[in-house]
Amino acid sequence: MVKVQWYPGHMEKARRQMTERLKAVDLIIELRDARIPEASTNPMLNMMAQGKPRLIVLAKTDMADPVQTEKWVRALRKDNQSCLAVDLMRDSSAGKKIIREALVLMKPKRDKQRARGINPRAVRAMACGIPNVGKSTMINRIAGKNTVKAADKPGVTRSLTWIHADPQLELLDTPGVLWPKFDDEMTGSLLAALGSINDDILDRKMIAMDAIHVIQDLYPGKLEEIYESGEVNPNGMLKAIAAKRRCLRENGEADTKRAAELFLTELRHARLGRLSLEHAKDENSEENAE
Ligand code: G4P
Repeated sequence: MVKVQWYPGHMEKARRQMTERLKAVDLIIELRDARIPEASTNPMLNMMAQGKPRLIVLAKTDMADPVQTEKWVRALRKDNQSCLAVDLMRDSSAGKKIIREALVLMKPKRDKQRARGINPRAVRAMACGIPNVGKSTMINRIAGKNTVKAADKPGVTRSLTWIHADPQLELLDTPGVLWPKFDDEMTGSLLAALGSINDDILDRKMIAMDAIHVIQDLYPGKLEEIYESGEVNPNGMLKAIAAKRRCLRENGEADTKRAAELFLTELRHARLGRLSLEHAKDENSEENAE
């Protein structure tokens, strides 16, 4: 299993920044990767979000297993929390859907204000999400222009950027530097497999083998079919991938390092099909607390 380091210094700085920002907002819009809805949450947010309504947006649904995405959306909807699944790349109305859902979530509070004769101001929402999850893309979809990219130049601070996304919604961006504390090694491994963690310092062969193991468990027969191999052992499967994709050394031996890199690229771009690497618990299961 891949060991991913956690840096307490980064965590502390991020925690301070997050506490400050949370004071200024009515609502949290948390972006997660639809293929790994649990691993891509920031545990720090769970610790700190106390009581704030939360809209979870599952992004990259075009690459996730649609059956699982539907289950996750249902599982993640609960009191004071809503969930939407969107394809930020192709769905041009994704931004509107997010704004609408945010307003639905804030409706009880705004109705109460109206009942007291107060005209509610625009909802203030904080957008957050781990790096590479699609946060800039989402903000641009919501704001309808390249607001984030424009502000993301060297020397231009992004520390407290309010984006007037809509007359009824203002968005606060948070830098994607939040470094999650990984509760277990599989979380780090899944994030690395889908490219949320810079994998230059990690052992890609290990990451690939972890991902192979997960896919073999969740989608039996899938890799066997693609790579035409009956290998059940992840290392053996890596060798089969090397053979199938012709990653061979000069002496004809399997180059499993190159095969691992190729496999991860194929996985990250959904060339193996629409796969979710975390499955929602069965709705009838008693364990299903979320
Ligand atoms: P960030 O601000 O959270 O770091 O993420 P950003 O919006 O920059 O998006 C990261 C990558 O994910 C981008 O690809 C972006 O196009 C892609 N992306 C975002 N949302 C979706 C989605 O719903 N579906 C798909 N298929 N892709 C999405 P990129 O610039 O090519 O980066 P990379 O893929 O090489 O990492």
